[in-house]
This record gives sequence, structure tokens and C-alpha cells, in this order.
Amino acid sequence: FHNHFMESVQPLIELIDSLRLIGIDKDIDLPSIAVVGDQSSGKSSVLEALSGVALPRGSGIVTRCPLELKLRKLKKGPWSGTISYSGHKENFNDPLKVDNFVREAQNKLAGNTVGISDELITLEISSPDVCDLTLIDLPGITRVPVHGQPDDIADQIKNLILKYIAKSETIILVVVPCNVDIATTEALRMAQDADPDGYRTLAILTKPDLIDRGAEIDVLNIVQGNVIPLSKGYIIVRCRGQSDINNKIPLSKAMEMESKFFKNHRYFSSLLNDGKASTQCLANNLTKELKSLPYLTEQIQTGLVNGERELKNYNQGPPVEEEKMGPFLSEARAIRNTIIMEFSDQIHELSRT
Ligand code: GDP
Ligand code: NA
Ligand code: MG
Repeated sequence: FHNHFMESVQPLIELIDSLRLIGIDKDIDLPSIAVVGDQSSGKSSVLEALSGVALPRGSGIVTRCPLELKLRKLKKGPWSGTISYSGHKENFNDPLKVDNFVREAQNKLAGNTVGISDELITLEISSPDVCDLTLIDLPGITRVPVHGQPDDIADQIKNLILKYIAKSETIILVVVPCNVDIATTEALRMAQDADPDGYRTLAILTKPDLIDRGAEIDVLNIVQGNVIPLSKGYIIVRCRGQSDINNKIPLSKAMEMESKFFKNHRYFSSLLNDGKASTQCLANNLTKELKSLPYLTEQIQTGLVNGERELKNYNQGPPVEEEKMGPFLSEARAIRNTIIMEFSDQIHELSRT
């Protein structure tokens, strides 16, 4: 599954990597995927299934800082991880340590209990088994502060989420459990505010194994877009539940179980053929979204046009008026020339890619 995902997304990743190499990410936001949803809706589980990286999950507030997961595919070589946050940086090579390192980082940044922080934790993972993607895990939306949380915790979390989903290069995954009323979901409302046309919003329905008997038809209607239509639609996924985690069911086994679950489902089996069920479908859809990248292309084209126009202005050499600048003239010219040279190099690089 991961191999298939990587192959289809590879040409795009190479483009993004070459853009990164020339430092373009200082000027342009490169695409990333962020999850938004209520606490315990299954955000970390979805990211885990997509990335193959075991993240901290569980009931209550587990994700307490934004976590940027930078996955880098290696042609070969051993798994290696680097966690960095607020001046701290540490390398490690045991994938099973991810969970602990992230929890430790959160404790340092947001305290040992239930606090949150908007300081970013970056986790870079290089391995032949991951796909080149940047995923962002975010704390879940809450309404009522639990003991030890400040009164404005709900607003703090919402502001933190907004900071990430406002970026036009961010694909928003709105995560909603099947057993929750989607019409009242704050996460969906926030996504619709940030992305009114829904061009970069995908809704993910989780926990289909926990639907009340008799409610399956309602969920089916939602996935088919008959209740709240969304331009990019819905995908329903089944991730590992708490008992699967306790029983140490590996991710690969969980994928098989998911596939069987949908195949044998009385109401949802048709969704599998429609490309609306399973983590595999989600991965395929994300590949498509990343490939279309309308905003990225737009940003680069605007940059190119502006750059060429600006370069033309310098064709005739320095304007005469500058002679009036007196003693600083040669210095000003030198600085300007350096800037033009760097700029023109970048444009060159860009047109080659
Ligand atoms: P987050 O707070 O949104 O990041 O949610 P988590 O990913 O931490 O998940 C919360 C709990 O729901 C965990 O115990 C998961 O194991 C469980 N969970 C996630 N997805 C599913 C699912 O599809 N089915 C079941 N039964 N449990 C799930
Ligand atoms: Na949780
Ligand atoms: Mg989480």
C-alpha cells in the first residue's frame, strides 16, 4: 500500500524537493496536510495510518502541541529520526521511541498534564518505508476545560488550529467520528471558514465499527454527500481502536482488518468500489490533491512574471537619478547587484525545474 502511494506521488515529491533545495520554501508555502477535529475523534490515528509512524494516541487530550511530521523517503538505509523543538534537537534510530520522545517534548513545552502550547515539535523521519510527505498533527477541539486547564483553553486551541489551516498550501483533513452528529461539528465549520470553496478540505469519518445499530443508513447518506455536500467529499476509514493498540496489533495487520471490515459490511461495502472507504482510498485521494496543487503553480507563476518584469527594469543599467545618491552610491549599487544576481539565479533554477 505505501509503495503504491509513494510511486504515484514520486514525481511531485521530486519537484517539491528540488524546490526545497533552492530554498524556495522561504518564499512559498510547500504543501502539507493538517488534521482538524474534536479531541479523540481519531486524528492521530489517521495520520499514523497514512504515515506508518506510531504516534501518541489515546483518550483525553494526548496531542498537546502542533507536531510537524516530515517524512523523507530514502532509496535505502536504516530508519532514522530527529526530533527538534525550542532549541532542543536529538537523533534516534528506534521507531518505537517516537511515542516517548513526542510525549517528553510535549511535557517540556506544555507541562506534564493537560496544558497545550503552540510551540511546534518537528519530527523528521527518513526511511525507505515512508512516503515523502509533511503531515501536521494538532490538538483536538474542546469545549469545556478539564481540571488544570485555563478557562480559555477552547479559544487557545482554535487559534492554534486556525494558524495552520489558514495556509492555502495546507490540505485540511476534517476528522469526524461516525457516531457524532456531523452537522454540529466545529471542525467542519472552521474548515469551511478557512476554505470556503472547499477546494482543499477532505472530510474523514472515523470509527465506523462503533456506529449504533440502525444508524448505518444515516452514515451512508453522509458519506454519499446527501447531508452536507462538500466539494471534495468524504472518506470513511477504520483505524486501530484502543483494544487493537493494547493487543499490539501492527499497522499492516490493522490495514488488512480494515479492508475486511469494509468488504464484509452490509451497508458500506459499496463505498469501497466508489473510492469512498479505507485508508488506501484516502491515500489515493491525497495523492491526487497534492498533484493538482493549484496554489503552488499559481504562486510560482506569479513569482516568475513579477521577477521577469523586475529584471526588465534593470536592463538599461542604473538609472541616472541614482547619481544624486552621493557617497553611498557605490555601496547601494553593490547591494542591488547582489540582489539582482541572486534573484536571476533563482529564476533560472525555477525555469529549469
Ligand atoms: P485524536 O485525539 O483525535 O488524535 O484521537 P486518537 O487518534 O488519539 O484516537 C482516540 C481513540 O480512538 C484512540 O483510543 C484510538 O485507538 C481510537 N480510534 C481511532 N480510530 C478508531 C476507529 O476507527 N475505530 C475504533 N474502534 N477506535 C478508533
Ligand atoms: Na485523544
Ligand atoms: Mg491526537
